[in-house]
Amino acid sequence: MLNIGIILGSVREGRNGEAVANWIHDFAVKRNDNVTYEIVDLADYQLPMLGASIPEAQQKESEAAVRDWSEKMASFDGYVIVAPEYNHAIGGALKNALDHLKPEVANKAAGFVGYGSLGGTRAHENLRLIFSELQVADVQTAVTFSLMTDFENFSEFKPADYHADNANKMLDQVIAWSGALKQVREHAESVTN
Ligand SMILES: Cc1cc2nc3c(=O)[nH]c(=O)nc-3n(C[C@H](O)[C@H](O)[C@H](O)COP(=O)(O)O)c2cc1C
Repeated sequence: MLNIGIILGSVREGRNGEAVANWIHDFAVKRNDNVTYEIVDLADYQLPMLGASIPEAQQKESEAAVRDWSEKMASFDGYVIVAPEYNHAIGGALKNALDHLKPEVANKAAGFVGYGSLGGTRAHENLRLIFSELQVADVQTAVTFSLMTDFENFSEFKPADYHADNANKMLDQVIAWSGALKQVREHAESVTN
């Protein structure tokens, strides 16, 4: 069975991302794939800025947050990244969280769910650059919610029905590549051990 993490990539108070992550999680679970889907909320990890000096009193807590985040991300075969678009890129919290990773995500697959004035597409393109460096295989189809038409007053999530098509395609692609890449990881382990 594959494990797919749905990463809620905004920590902003009052964030729209929570409703979007819940939507794609419920949508995915209803497909009855032979897959477990779990939401991972960045706000549950008080990650330090990578490389910043930490006051001694907070060091243990910071180290534990980084370790928990690393272990959680390592436990998945693939990811669905729910990414807000800030200034034509992903938000700082998500970028910092990804900067803490490397082997945990290598040779795994990812699909994107975005939202913004243009569906978060510029954040997706930004993620593609980041993931090529992290050796994550990002799939072609993305789900792109418009802040204007899929949210009432830019805050109440009311997604149009047509997004279901892309959500299915994106999940199909993530599952296919996550399964294939699991074999790649097993093969890589067998030749290096
Ligand atoms: C600092 C900032 C920059 C933003 N820049 C963009 C942008 O470049 N493109 C866009 O479509 N939306 C932009 N937005 C709107 C956000 O995508 C929107 O507020 C979204 O709900 C943010 O995700 P969140 O609510 O889950 O934090 C920006 C919002 C903020 C606060």
